[in-house]
Amino acid sequence: MADSRPIGIFDSGLGGLTVMKEIAKKLPNENIIYFGDTGRVPYGTRSRETIKKYAVQDEKFLLLNDVKIIIAACGTVSAVAADTGDSLPVPFFEVISYAAKSAVEATKNGKIGVLGTPATISSEAHKKRILSVMPNAEITAVSCPLFVPLVEEGWINADNMAVYDTARRYLEPLKAANVDTLILGCTHYPLLSDVIQKIMGANVTLINMGTATADAVKNYLTENNMLSGANNNGTNKFFVSDMTNSFEKTAEMLLGKKIDSNNTEQVDIDKI
Ligand code: DGL
Repeated sequence: MADSRPIGIFDSGLGGLTVMKEIAKKLPNENIIYFGDTGRVPYGTRSRETIKKYAVQDEKFLLLNDVKIIIAACGTVSAVAADTGDSLPVPFFEVISYAAKSAVEATKNGKIGVLGTPATISSEAHKKRILSVMPNAEITAVSCPLFVPLVEEGWINADNMAVYDTARRYLEPLKAANVDTLILGCTHYPLLSDVIQKIMGANVTLINMGTATADAVKNYLTENNMLSGANNNGTNKFFVSDMTNSFEKTAEMLLGKKIDSNNTEQVDIDKI
């Protein structure tokens, strides 16, 4: 039996479109509803209580749209508020567990690096998950608060000196620790893959949490007969809590294709 209800994806803003991109690539027939909390972004510098409160509202909004599963695309929500998914009436996926699993599978020397927002890194969520399956792993985690604003500004090229210097400083401890695998633990960081790879060297494996999660979601929907069926077209619908001037430009950069702002609705998320 086909289940054509949409997959619900939410994020603190538009960064989660990097995760949606990977989900849509693996599951092109699925309908997807995306909610970006553009009115309250960033989450990564906020307290645990606030992030949880926001996550509950975001999940509630997606449930009102009859989604069949919910994916917290946000690294920060996944790190500090994943328990908000425990009591939902639909299956819930966060993006840290699968990224951690992929890193454990990829590492050869057991030295794993993690990059994320301040809230994500201070939660030690990656470290806990990695050590639970690989107790002798050595983890070096670095918070990179300047990466999100750089990406939002469209500054992503390795030949931009501000980008290169910022990345070089953040990556110094990871190079010193000789990590062979590096988790990009935030929605925006895949856009910085080129500069990160250039600094870390070609032998370091970068883990994209969207790719890791897309595989898990595909397996789950397949095993539970919840795919929408090969004849379904895979429609996308976007909701945001604030329609900013830069919406179309930023969304296109993160999703890798154009989003029509006329096909995007604004939601008063505080009233949910
Ligand atoms: N989406 C957030 C994350 O993946 C980055 C932006 C923010 O701080 O809200 O952690």
